[in-house]
Amino acid sequence: MSAVAESPAKQREFAYEPEDFEKVRRCLLRKAGIKLSDSKDAMVYSRLVRRIRVLGMSSFSDYLKRVEQDESEVEHFINALTTNLTSFFREPHHFDALARFIEKQGDGIDTIWCAASSTGEEPYSIAIVVAEMYGSFRPPVKIIASDIDSRVLDKARSGIYPAACMSKLSPARQKQFFYRGKGANTGKVRVADELRNMVSFRRINLTDSSWQVPDKLDVIFCRNVMIYFDKPTQLRILTKMVSKMKPNGLYIAGHSENFNAQSNLVVPVGKTIYQPARGHAQ
Ligand SMILES: C[S@@+](CC[C@H](N)C(=O)[O-])C[C@H]1O[C@@H](n2cnc3c(N)ncnc32)[C@H](O)[C@@H]1O
Repeated sequence: MSAVAESPAKQREFAYEPEDFEKVRRCLLRKAGIKLSDSKDAMVYSRLVRRIRVLGMSSFSDYLKRVEQDESEVEHFINALTTNLTSFFREPHHFDALARFIEKQGDGIDTIWCAASSTGEEPYSIAIVVAEMYGSFRPPVKIIASDIDSRVLDKARSGIYPAACMSKLSPARQKQFFYRGKGANTGKVRVADELRNMVSFRRINLTDSSWQVPDKLDVIFCRNVMIYFDKPTQLRILTKMVSKMKPNGLYIAGHSENFNAQSNLVVPVGKTIYQPARGHAQ
């Protein structure tokens, strides 16, 4: 007979009760719109325990009181609980669509917003396409990248990644857009300064009532973030984003985000690519 595993709760360094998990869930939903499923219980423990240790606290309930009372701790709380998976040219067909869009619109493009840019691979992939299409590191296009997580934004601004991140890029792109680390930095790459200068990063919580982005956006990349929100939140954000877009703009969603039912707002023009409905009718 196999041994019965000791319950994880008994091995835990800090007391973590079901009501602590419930409090985390409610707080994350309120502060970031993120809805955690029941299965995220262990993940919440392992992500927050590091912060509890850093603060020298002795229990989850004390930590959660601190989050409620201290606005500066909310940022750490959110940073610890976001999921930031991303890569260069993830879902490559979106970048082909961007290149075609730029070709069609020419100098008519002003601003591209990458709305949940994580550690930067996505906005730098956008910048590569823009630089190639305009044949310049100083194109007449602004690229704004944002995320709720201040830690990933710092990493994005640094532009430093493991060299393996370039595996999907052609040798020509690797050479043109990255510096290879030497000495202590062997095995790392840094995005070329000219490319980094094309992207401006800022912290934006998509569930906030106002966003620091211009109106009349040409393209919005909002990929693999809506899945963390409930449907009413998704629709509120989509409605607001569409109202900020030019009628002929592109809204690019993640692979598991489907807005085909929202035909009053957007119409599909490609695989998880949409155009504002008001522009499509013209
Ligand atoms: C899975 S990553 C997706 C990254 C990238 N868009 C991609 O598809 O490769 C999701 C990102 O959404 C961000 N996020 C979660 N909630 C957010 C919110 N309320 N406002 C802005 N960003 C949020 C997370 O911090 C995380 O970096």
